[in-house]
Amino acid sequence: MSKKTLVCVVGARPNFMKMAPIIKQLNYLKETVSVYLVHTGQHYDQAMKASFFEQLGIPEPDVDLGVGSGSHSDQTANIMLRFEPVLDAVNPCAVLVVGDVNSTIACSLVAVKKQIPVIHVEAGLRSGDRSMPEEINRILTDQISDSLFTTERSAEANLNKEGIDSKRIHFAGNVMIDTLLANLQLASPFAETLKDYCTSDAIKEGGYALLTMHRPSNVDDPETLTRLLQVIVDISEKLPVIFPVHPRTLSRIEQTGLSTLIASGNIICLPPVGYLQILGLMKSAKMVLTDSGGLQEETTALGVPCVTLRENTERPITVEQGTNTIVGSDGNKIQACVDDILITGGKSGRIPEYWDGKAAERIVEDIKSLYF
Ligand code: UD1
Repeated sequence: MSKKTLVCVVGARPNFMKMAPIIKQLNYLKETVSVYLVHTGQHYDQAMKASFFEQLGIPEPDVDLGVGSGSHSDQTANIMLRFEPVLDAVNPCAVLVVGDVNSTIACSLVAVKKQIPVIHVEAGLRSGDRSMPEEINRILTDQISDSLFTTERSAEANLNKEGIDSKRIHFAGNVMIDTLLANLQLASPFAETLKDYCTSDAIKEGGYALLTMHRPSNVDDPETLTRLLQVIVDISEKLPVIFPVHPRTLSRIEQTGLSTLIASGNIICLPPVGYLQILGLMKSAKMVLTDSGGLQEETTALGVPCVTLRENTERPITVEQGTNTIVGSDGNKIQACVDDILITGGKSGRIPEYWDGKAAERIVEDIKSLYF
């Protein structure tokens, strides 16, 4: 039997943590299958890409498509144009994509049109909010995938409603939590990450809120961004706020002239941090305020209360079983939730089924029997 090649695609920051454990597992099968790693180049800065590869032990990509930033159409179309010749040259047995970023749908679409099977890891999550670019990417990727691996049981019902047969769906658990559990002991102490940004006794273990915010719905509209940052400034009077600022958010803050507002609060801004740094910052936080999908899951795994600055979530298990509360962008709701956590300690939650560090093992076992 000839050796097969599996193309694995990463593009943006949250993809790296999801792909790392899958590649590690596939490596145990290197006699049977070779991995051809494609980086689309959607994220390209050292802080958004290279540090993750190093820290997570992801091998150098076999090819970097170098697409960079652009409008959604521009970015998606460019990835497609540059990915097609790679498939022609490599002729893989399947293409494996993760998550819901533009790279995920772009590469899936190229593969399916060439009749190459698509494997989607983190399938079936739905926020019900079609104004989110990721929701469109999720729906379309799932429709054209041959094998769909889910992180929570509700995902299967979402997929069934869209006409996807259970035969193609595999409940595997959460690869992002595989990475978290594998790296928890290596997490950088929060004080180490903060040492260049504040005095050593300014921030205590469990004595700060960690904030991340980059969704277009929160940062692109100047009015919403101003309102949110004003609430954060108010919160920072009760609890210092650590804020690693995403490049999209930084440019909106600068365009809207909001740097002075931020400087008026007890807010420590940092550039985007690496995986081991954000893990350390999450682990030691009193609470996390975020609009990220990944942090909602990671805080549930860590047992740290999470205040989600969105109107909905595609990860309902983090609310039903975990530590997550959805508050949207309404100042009063955010304040009330933060106050509740300060008084009661917030939700303690429990670990969802199969968030046990073995999701990648289950996925690779299944794809081995299906494709190699
Ligand atoms: C993308 C994903 C989002 C994910 C997020 C994590 C889509 C539709 N969105 O959003 O789901 O949560 O990544 O970060 O795929 N930029 C840099 N350096 C970089 C990358 C981007 O400065 O390395 C700046 C550019 O100004 C760019 C902007 O950030 O225009 C946005 O980048 P983009 O890749 O379009 O989307 P994200 O907002 O990062």
